[in-house]
Amino acid sequence: MDWTAFRNEFPVTRRWAFLDHAAVAPLPAVAVRALAEYATDAAQNGIASVSRWTSRAKAVKASAARLLNAATEEIAFIKNTSDGVGFVAEGFPWLAGDNVVLAAEEFPSNQYPWMNQAHRGVEVRSVPSRGSRVSFDDVRAAVDSRTRVVALSFVEYASGYRNDLDAIGSFCRERGVYFFVDAIQGLGVFPLDVTKTPVDFLAADSHKWLLGPEGSGIFWIRKDLIDLLHPIGVGWNSVVNAVDFAKTDFRLKPTAARWEGGSRNNAGITAMGAGLDLLLGVGIAEVGDRVEFLTDYACERAASAGLKVFSSRAAREKSGIVSLCSPGRDPDDLRNRCRDAGVIVNQRSGRLRISPHAYNSTEEIDRFLECVTT
Ligand SMILES: Cc1ncc(COP(=O)(O)O)c(C=O)c1O
Repeated sequence: MDWTAFRNEFPVTRRWAFLDHAAVAPLPAVAVRALAEYATDAAQNGIASVSRWTSRAKAVKASAARLLNAATEEIAFIKNTSDGVGFVAEGFPWLAGDNVVLAAEEFPSNQYPWMNQAHRGVEVRSVPSRGSRVSFDDVRAAVDSRTRVVALSFVEYASGYRNDLDAIGSFCRERGVYFFVDAIQGLGVFPLDVTKTPVDFLAADSHKWLLGPEGSGIFWIRKDLIDLLHPIGVGWNSVVNAVDFAKTDFRLKPTAARWEGGSRNNAGITAMGAGLDLLLGVGIAEVGDRVEFLTDYACERAASAGLKVFSSRAAREKSGIVSLCSPGRDPDDLRNRCRDAGVIVNQRSGRLRISPHAYNSTEEIDRFLECVTT
């Protein structure tokens, strides 16, 4: 793989050593062009171009389906991950006394929508991590006969721990429990084939590893579960005869598109599609190998910069996120020092966090390490 050509797709490299894709990724040039194309067309043609953007959205959905090895009918465009979590948490047929099992250190988007079901008698069971790991044994122990859903991240945002979706999903299947995945910190960098991994629903905005803009994401639901959830956010575009505005005919689409209640975010969707196609063109497994190479490189050298690797770096547990302890030094100060030197990293849970994407270089990792070396 020619990573130099791939790197040339990222204007951000001219100014920054950008190592913060777990926050908000910079747009690749293809996504910028897609946005400009949409904006120009919207300015010049408005509604006269409607079919062009309907076709583009269809193509983007096909790319999203390819990413997951899913059917397009199982995918809905969403405005962010929180939207998708809400579809499941709000729409699930809970009975009072049911519970949902989460990791205690999940990002708030994958906690509050479940907590918001307390008025329906739903208990949230939060499993604390053990160091940098979410213990599968602890998740298993938290599940009982009233557990209906396990909801976890593909990759934990603060520790960078990659959950074993195959093992947890298989366990959920055996126990008749549904499995929801907040996929935003893993999708685009690690392969996920929903015909093999027993996941039931997932959601991810595109603004991190998928290299899309904020406010445009995907929700995936296993086909046979579409009728399990009561759809929320229903609007004119949720029904079978969506454009027959004068005829009220409340028959929901039989697909995940029933969750796309109103007008599409064409600008965001087309830019998301550009990022998706860029990644699919390289191959997700190749992207993942490259990200593992760069993060391994950083971890091998962290001690020389006075940093201690907090994240698990065991095979299949490591991810694109490396969480680093900086004993005796304030992580906010270190992050600011990096920024002043043109290196973008972040701080989460009192630790430095770096998250390089496949276009980053070892030289950029070296720059980061130099910045934090006392
Ligand atoms: C695990 C996880 N889920 C969700 C989000 C963001 O949620 P949303 O797409 O709703 O803004 C983040 C952002 O940092 C995250 O790390």
